[in-house]
Amino acid sequence: MARVFVTRRLPEGGTDPLLAAGHQVLGRDDDRAPSADELVAAARTADAIVCLLGDRIDGTVLRAGASGTLRVVANVAVGFDNVDIAAAADHGIVVCNTPGVLEDTTADLTFLLILAAARRAHEAASDLRAGLWDGWGINQYLGTDVFGATLGLVGYGRIGRAVARRAHGFAMSVLHHCRRATGEAGYVADLETLLRQSDIVSLHVPLTPETHHLIDAGALALMKRTAVLVNTARGPVVDEAALAGALHAGRIFAAGLDVFEHEPAVDAGLLSTPRAVLLPHIASASQATRTKMARLACAGAVAVLAGTIPPNAIETTVPGAGRAP
Ligand code: GLV
Repeated sequence: MARVFVTRRLPEGGTDPLLAAGHQVLGRDDDRAPSADELVAAARTADAIVCLLGDRIDGTVLRAGASGTLRVVANVAVGFDNVDIAAAADHGIVVCNTPGVLEDTTADLTFLLILAAARRAHEAASDLRAGLWDGWGINQYLGTDVFGATLGLVGYGRIGRAVARRAHGFAMSVLHHCRRATGEAGYVADLETLLRQSDIVSLHVPLTPETHHLIDAGALALMKRTAVLVNTARGPVVDEAALAGALHAGRIFAAGLDVFEHEPAVDAGLLSTPRAVLLPHIASASQATRTKMARLACAGAVAVLAGTIPPNAIETTVPGAGRAP
């Protein structure tokens, strides 16, 4: 029986794989984030950690784990920028994530943001609730059409592709950009061209040093004045201050954001513009998907504890993989 530290209360049934394997589940049964000290203390005595994207599993936590018996960190998220992957690999600690279960839920929410931002839904709904709507008007809340528009996907992994599938139902032309040529219709080798040509730009890249502030003031300046930017990836992919400036200046039409640079803080300039639709990082938040994510992460931990490498292990953290022999 291994000791598994689960950093928060997971959706009901989420820890089932751990319990079925007979492991001891430790940790708080609430939604409060553990402090850095709590994580270090837990890492010293745990064989596995199941964590969320708001938990920083940095070098200090992993070193503490390596001084004990920590073998696996399973992140209940597909993005894993909160885990120091290089340090984990150095300490022989395998990291798992949750690919393959949240794409459709995330793509649905991406479309919600595309539609809400393009059609000024937030602005219109806020006015209605504030009692500011005085009846139908032919010039009210004029947005931009989503059907038939050109959608530029930055990043073309599972989530980008799920968004593309939905876009075809809206008769959109879909472009995509990613580091490696896909050989598929709509591939655009350089980001600048995609930004210039798209009516809607949607971000689906992981956060890495290369993608930090990928969309900065220069990138925003390349977009059409009528364009909409949507971010369901990670906040720091966008320079938030630059985006707020572009929205206030009417440099682009609108933005739909589910993620922020310094979560849970949100840039004051974004909060003050009606042209930003802002959601609190809920792209994967359906009951079914969050349960699947929790189970997949826990199943990854169970597999590593049993001495096997599950398909949801991050390759570079698998002992012997991705490194020079
Ligand atoms: C959510 O943001 C995730 O990475 O799963």
